[in-house]
Amino acid sequence: MSAEGHVSGQDLCDELQVSRTAIWKYIKALKEEGYVIEAVNNKGYKLISTPDRIDETSIRSQLKTSYIGNVIEYYDEIDSTNIRAKALGESDGIDGTVVVANEQTAGRGRRGRAWKSPAGSSVAFTILLRPELKAINAPSLTIVAAMAVAAAINNIEGLEGNIKWPNDIVVNGKKVVGILTEMSTDMEYINYVVVGIGININTESFPDDIKDMATSLRVEAGREINRSKVIADTLCYFEKYYKQFIETHDLTLLSEDYNNMLINKDKEVYIMENEQKRKAIAIGIDKEGALIIKNINGDFEKVIAGEVSVRGLYGYI
Ligand code: BTN
Repeated sequence: MSAEGHVSGQDLCDELQVSRTAIWKYIKALKEEGYVIEAVNNKGYKLISTPDRIDETSIRSQLKTSYIGNVIEYYDEIDSTNIRAKALGESDGIDGTVVVANEQTAGRGRRGRAWKSPAGSSVAFTILLRPELKAINAPSLTIVAAMAVAAAINNIEGLEGNIKWPNDIVVNGKKVVGILTEMSTDMEYINYVVVGIGININTESFPDDIKDMATSLRVEAGREINRSKVIADTLCYFEKYYKQFIETHDLTLLSEDYNNMLINKDKEVYIMENEQKRKAIAIGIDKEGALIIKNINGDFEKVIAGEVSVRGLYGYI
């Protein structure tokens, strides 16, 4: 190798025991896949950058879990990773299977809304779980997922991921992640549950109607972010937090960490309920994921996700 990191064509031929023409063909194929390779006369080739692929190999090479992601199904394009994970749940899909897509054509959001996952810049993935849990505990899995993504974002230099109760992840006050948990039950027990996560990673701009509320990791960091690393880190944290959740079947072991990530903690917020809003101070979640608030009379109350939502006094957070 030269001082600048170039490897000569002859060295590659010797190392790989192939012809010069074969090396040239491999380099051409790699460039077509998005690898940036510099070729300099009399010096050889130098790898400048690798493409931001999120296929099974690139995720698995960074994954340090014991069972989440033991099976990864990757799709360049799919209707919705939640739809595929639910089909696996209905058949023989293994606990901890992860369905990942580079692009969703019919991504689903909460309350029947659509969720856009454009090719190459965002990521969409869904974890299939078969916990021995009562259905009533399932909403807490969304909280576990929110903590995992926020923790993965906190691993990225210069970014701070926080949670807006119950499960919106925000960076610099704008939403970067959506989570949709869906389940199938058998009596009062969970048959399977799918936790779908969509992250705006390298999205460069947003439509006018959402640009004040939505952002991407790239916009906030000011540089491109490796998508497979964010997926792998999220899965690692998810497994860690999920194991803690399963120990007690609630958020007892997690609420302190969650509350440390809570953007509105100890701040004044509006509690929105049935078209009405009232001021309160957000204190933190309890072991069921309910938000404890201090109302204007100084009394503590619990509010439940789905029944109320929280807004900041001056906007979204
Ligand atoms: C929200 O409305 O905030 C939730 C959006 C959830 C989107 C994710 S992307 C991966 C998974 N597949 C889907 O179709 N939806 C979820």
